[in-house]
Amino acid sequence: MTPPRLSRRRLVSALGATALAGGVGGAALAQGRRRNASLDYAFPDEALARDLGLAPTPACGDGEAEATVRQTEGPFYKPETPERDDLAADGEGVALLLVGRVLTPDCRPLGRTVLDFWHADSQGRYDDAGYRFRAHQFTDAGGGFRLLTIKPSGYGYASAARPPHIHVKAQAPQSGLLTTQLYFPDENNRGDRIYREPLEVDLTEENGVLIARFDFVLPVA
Ligand SMILES: [Fe+2]
Repeated sequence: MTPPRLSRRRLVSALGATALAGGVGGAALAQGRRRNASLDYAFPDEALARDLGLAPTPACGDGEAEATVRQTEGPFYKPETPERDDLAADGEGVALLLVGRVLTPDCRPLGRTVLDFWHADSQGRYDDAGYRFRAHQFTDAGGGFRLLTIKPSGYGYASAARPPHIHVKAQAPQSGLLTTQLYFPDENNRGDRIYREPLEVDLTEENGVLIARFDFVLPVA
């Protein structure tokens, strides 16, 4: 699956005909923008080790859903990211729309969840000097989010080759902090010691844009 690289005008047009029509609202951030959140998290990844053995997250309707698997934040996280949901101008690459919802284990939507995303560019490089491909946003009242970006490249780090992935921190007003990573199907994931299958996105292509779908499940107090 190798969609053509898109001009920004064509990309916006394509999204208007696909994801937005599919109920992924463009007003997703309206409520969250009123919140002044510090993203300098104090939460460590204490639960990483015990969560690595979790079973795949069941779909809503199957009963109590498993919490989304936690993963290490890695060495490239930067706090205080800008609030935005469109990173398409941050660098060239294959257009990608990441959409989904944040839910409780009993499938209630978690609005006003902050989602802080960061990922490598199409050359496998992180922007450590600035905030290219780094941003946060808030879910809408239905727990929905949408991030327009590019598909990141994998990269080598500490003598290991990492497949393409997107890092994320998620925290609802009623939940603890989830730190994890999302992966793509049909990549060299099995050779990655960190990869976990429940963290693969559902990937399709619509009008030349990759559409990655993933729902987060956050336990709440
Ligand atoms: Fe990474």
